Amino acid sequence: MKSENTNNENIRTEFHRFFVEQLKDIYWAEKHLKKGLRKMRKAATSPKLAAAFEKHYNESDKQEATLEQIFALMGEEPQTKRCEAMAGLLKEVEEMIDDTEKNSFVRDAGLILAAQKVEHYEIATYGTLRTLAAYLPEKKIKRMLEGILAGEKKTDEALTKMAEDFVNECAAVG
Ligand SMILES: [Fe+2]
Ligand SMILES: [Fe+2]
Repeated sequence: MKSENTNNENIRTEFHRFFVEQLKDIYWAEKHLKKGLRKMRKAATSPKLAAAFEKHYNESDKQEATLEQIFALMGEEPQTKRCEAMAGLLKEVEEMIDDTEKNSFVRDAGLILAAQKVEHYEIATYGTLRTLAAYLPEKKIKRMLEGILAGEKKTDEALTKMAEDFVNECAAVG
């Protein structure tokens, strides 16, 4: 069954390349999101929301380092590839800041909306990559991606909680 083996080898190489390309995409996204989180922290009305953005900035920094470890485990140099989806979501963050009043809770409701779109994009990406990683020879990678995924989900939940606790009501009451 030599031909089949050769075929499997090709598939594995193609899969490796494909996976690395997706890593480059999310690596770019994490790096640029950090800039977005800085902007969101500065723009937030509530100190609590500003602190949440600060916290996720630090988490994103660690996630970036984890991605670098994954590149290394795959025998690759960390490289970025522009992620058009994240670029668009970060443009929406800027538009949200432009379209809402400074020091208002509508601003914060808007920032939460924009930030949750980002988190859901990350959840989708890491969820799929984690599932694909089961087929990589380095079994550790799946667990590392699962760790990042759990962090993104927690961030999303924290944002929902803040919206429900006070931000949305303050935004609606004015
Ligand atoms: Fe992230
Ligand atoms: Fe995130």
